[in-house]
Formats: sequence, structure tokens, C-alpha cells
Amino acid sequence: MHAWLCENPVGVEALQWKELPTPQPQAGEVLVEIKAASLNFPDLLIVQNKYQVKPPLPFVPGAEYAGVVAAVGPDVKHVKPGERVACLSGTGGFATHAIAPAAQCLPLPAGFPHPDAAALIMTYATSLHALVDRAQLKAGETVLVLGGAGGVGTAAIQIAKAVGARVIAAASSAEKCELCRSIGADATINYSRDTLRDAIGAATGGRGPDVVYDPVGGDLAEPALRSLAWRGRYLVIGFASGTIPSLPLNLTLLKGTSIVGVFWGRFMREEPQAAAALLTELTRWYGAGRIKPVIDRLMPMAELKAAYDYMGSRGVKGKLVMVN
Ligand SMILES: NC(=O)c1ccc[n+]([C@@H]2O[C@H](COP(=O)([O-])OP(=O)(O)OC[C@H]3O[C@@H](n4cnc5c(N)ncnc54)[C@H](OP(=O)(O)O)[C@@H]3O)[C@@H](O)[C@H]2O)c1
Repeated sequence: MHAWLCENPVGVEALQWKELPTPQPQAGEVLVEIKAASLNFPDLLIVQNKYQVKPPLPFVPGAEYAGVVAAVGPDVKHVKPGERVACLSGTGGFATHAIAPAAQCLPLPAGFPHPDAAALIMTYATSLHALVDRAQLKAGETVLVLGGAGGVGTAAIQIAKAVGARVIAAASSAEKCELCRSIGADATINYSRDTLRDAIGAATGGRGPDVVYDPVGGDLAEPALRSLAWRGRYLVIGFASGTIPSLPLNLTLLKGTSIVGVFWGRFMREEPQAAAALLTELTRWYGAGRIKPVIDRLMPMAELKAAYDYMGSRGVKGKLVMVN
């Protein structure tokens, strides 16, 4: 097998494409022949030693992938060789093969293309857990999605629309706003051009959104929190801007609002049955055409460093998917 190996987490430039012995799955493990692996922001952080999870060295980055089961450990029953699966195992995906924990392999229904499957779990599961479970979003409510054209942002737009909410998507360019509208956003805000607080007021008739979905952080957070409607919920998804904001707590008191943390990985470990039910729901929604990953482009696995550069430069619309 071949894999992009991270022996020293000092950045993308240190990754090396290496030939390695193909491992055999042990108890509780599955060997997957990888067909597609998507890039998520945590993949960028993990090779710089900036992610909250720090795997032992050396490791193969690539949190999320899809492929065909090549072999299973002696006790593994829910998937079998030849079956197609999607995996969110945190590492291992930027390779030709990976050993995945069996519990993190989701069998795929027929007609589920590998690139879509590789681009589904991290972004859509996070967004469904965030909007429906953590924020209790209801039909008719208004959601503001910051970073709307990114990976989790595009998933959040589609899920909020599927729930029957009104969606205001905010992004940093006219092209990104156009993409958000093309996947269902009812209104958009270009925060490179417009003052966020004024634009939110204009888009909501001064009332403010019921829910803010924030994967960006930084300078966007405080005006977004200030804009929430009475009993609004502010979802803390991530800090793609690189800055973790500090927010005045009096803002929550004034409007009876809640700041709600979201962490899919921990949710999966703490509440595995609820997470599994959510994943089953997602595959159903995909089958019914209610959600569809937005794929900016497919790139050959050998071009991983160029894909990382593209993501780091803030250019990606939706998701990048590496293919073997
Ligand atoms: N809580 C969880 O369970 C969970 C799960 C998955 C991901 N996340 C987090 O969610 C965040 C987004 O992940 P993603 O995979 O959706 O990333 P992504 O596709 O790269 O999207 C991030 C968006 O952030 C915006 N952004 C603002 N400043 C940026 C900067 N300096 N560099 C890059 N992007 C910047 C960009 O939109 P504009 O150009 O329009 O501003 C970009 O589209 C990350 O922090 C990630 O760790 C959290």
C-alpha cells in the first residue's frame, strides 16, 4: 500500500508519499481499499500539530474516506469483504488502504458514489447534530450560516432547508454567496463587503436569526451573537479564521440566548447509539435527495499537497475529494 505519511507534524510540506506494508485487520478492525477521501479543515490542523487530537507519530492524515472492504478482523460481522463503506476514523484516509475501527465503518446503500460517501459524515453529521439536536431548530425559524460556502457551511445550509428553516448564508465573496444561493440559501451576506451586523438586521427585518451556525469564529462572532433574536441559539462549530473569540456574556442575558458547543467526535464516543441513529437518518436523507455533498473538485491522491494549499488559501467551495 501507499500512504501520505506524517512523521513530523510541522506542516503539509513534511508529508511524504511512502510505500508501507499492507496491514492485516485485527479484532474489531476492517481493512479498506480507499476509493475516495475528502479534505476537512481538521486535516489541515492535524499535520501542523494544531488540532485538539494529536495522534502518535508517524500517522497518515485523512479523517474521512470511502472504499471497499478488503478484509475484516475475526469478530467483525456488520460488514464483509467486497462491501462498500464510508469511514470517519480521524486518520488514515490519504492512502490506498487503511485500517479502520469496525464501529466507524458505515455500510453504504447501493447507488452511493464513493466521492459523495467520502464527503458526507464529518460535515453533514456535525451539521445535523448541531442544528437539530443541539439547537432544536424548527421549521419556520431563521438560521444564519457563517462560512456558508465551506464544507460544514454547505451541509448546514442544506440541512436547515430540509428542516424547513429560512437560511441566510454569509461568506467572503460574491462567488461563494452565489454558490450558497444555488444550494438553497434564501438570502446571502458578503462579509468582505458588507458590515455583518447591519446586513443581518436588513435580512431579518431587524429581528435577528433564531440560530447562528459559526464554523469561522474571529471577528464575525460578536456581531453575530449580538444579532440573535430573543431565545436565540449560537452554535460554536469551529474557528477556521484561526482566532477563538472571547464574547461578553451579558449579551446572552439581554436576549435570553444560549451559546451551544458542538463536537461531533465526542458526541459519537459519548452517545454512540444516538450518533448511529443520526447517521442512518443521513443516509436516508441522501437517498431521498434531501442532501447532496457539494464537491468543488475531485483530485488525484498524488496531488494532496496542492489540495491542502487550495484549502489553506480559502478558495474551496464545498469540499475537495481525493481519489485513487
Ligand atoms: N465541531 C465539530 O464537530 C466540527 C466538525 C467538523 C469541522 N469543524 C470545524 O469547522 C470549521 C470549518 O471546517 P470545514 O471543513 O468546513 O472547513 P472549510 O471547508 O475550509 O470552510 C471553512 C470556511 O471558513 C471561512 N474562513 C474564514 N477565515 C478563514 C481562514 N483564515 N482560512 C480558511 N477559511 C476561513 C471560509 O469561508 P469564507 O472565505 O467565506 O469566510 C471557509 O469556507 C473548522 O474549524 C473545523 O475544525 C468542527
